[in-house]
Amino acid sequence: MDLVAELKSKPWLLGFGLFFGLGFLLIGGVLPGRNPTQPLRYNHAVHISNGMTCEDCHAGARGNEKATLPGIDICLGCHREPLTKSPEEEKIRAFARSGQEIPWVQVTRVPRHVYFSHRRHVTLGGLKCAECHGPMETRTEPVRRPFRPMTMNGCMECHEHRKVSYDCNDCHR
Ligand code: HEC
Ligand code: HEC
Ligand code: HEC
Ligand code: HEC
Ligand code: HEC
Repeated sequence: MDLVAELKSKPWLLGFGLFFGLGFLLIGGVLPGRNPTQPLRYNHAVHISNGMTCEDCHAGARGNEKATLPGIDICLGCHREPLTKSPEEEKIRAFARSGQEIPWVQVTRVPRHVYFSHRRHVTLGGLKCAECHGPMETRTEPVRRPFRPMTMNGCMECHEHRKVSYDCNDCHR
């Protein structure tokens, strides 16, 4: 039976198709790495120009494996009362009132079978954040895609250039 005949005899199939199709589009929009929409339009430039450092919000970026994204308590440290008339700022307090964390989506990531450590690169390797993440201090919009592809080739390119060891097991544990 061809598709049209199939649909004529089983119209509910079309319903299924629409249901999954729409679901896929909706979920596709928020899955990590796929051009996600962040829960609010966070602006890096405003905060860096007000004297904050990267580690104020990404506590693990120098000393740990994961840089981490900030919990809502960090934001509330300054935004419990309005500082601006921005509706984006108001969203922080709305999340707080409903007892929720702000559900940030991590965009730059490696698969679970790959070991990557910020401490190794930033503290021991002396690399600047911008080498891998670009000029975050001038960003006024959330990150939508990784600045530098974090694929195996992406890692190798820099390791070759800087003559860092090549053992498969260093990155795959
Ligand atoms: C006041 C808190 C705050 C400060 C200070 C801050 N960030 Fe962020 N950062 C965030 C939030 C919130 C997000 C998630 C939303 C977004 O992408 O803007 C984020 C996202 C990021 C991401 C994207 C991570 C990903 O998933 O791909 C990078 C990279 C980053 N920040 C680097 C930096 C660097 C470098 C600095 C210092 C120059 C810095 N941040 C300072 C709050 C902060
Ligand atoms: C150390 C204090 C401090 C912390 C912590 C802080 N902010 Fe802010 N935030 C500010 C200041 C200062 C401004 C700018 C006010 C102005 O424009 O005069 C601002 C402005 C904003 C604005 C509105 C302006 C714009 O351009 O978007 C938003 C939204 C915002 N912050 C979100 C956040 C979020 C989300 C966090 C937590 C990840 C956070 N802030 C943490 C101090 C802080
Ligand atoms: C050598 C490249 C490199 C450098 C340098 C680097 N990062 Fe990253 N960053 C990555 C990779 C790769 C990931 C994804 C890691 C993962 O999935 O565990 C990442 C993820 C992140 C994230 C997402 C949240 C998380 O927990 O991982 C933030 C935020 C971040 N980096 C901030 C920073 C800051 C701030 C600096 C500078 C102090 C920095 N990074 C330096 C490569 C780098
Ligand atoms: C911009 C350059 C750069 C990029 C991109 C980069 N690295 Fe590195 N990496 C370094 C440097 C430099 C060192 C050496 C650090 C030191 O001196 O300890 C290093 C060291 C390492 C080590 C330790 C090696 C050993 O001998 O034990 C691992 C593991 C590693 N990187 C994984 C990764 C992974 C995974 C990626 C990609 C997701 C990546 N790196 C991307 C520059 C980079
Ligand atoms: C510098 C870090 C690094 C080293 C060294 C490295 N890899 Fe990878 N590898 C990665 C990253 C990051 C990914 C995930 C991103 C991607 O698929 O490109 C990956 C993915 C893979 C995958 C999975 C591909 C897939 O489709 O999911 C295989 C298989 C693999 N590596 C084999 C190897 C072998 C074999 C070696 C040694 C010759 C090696 N890797 C050395 C970083 C590394």
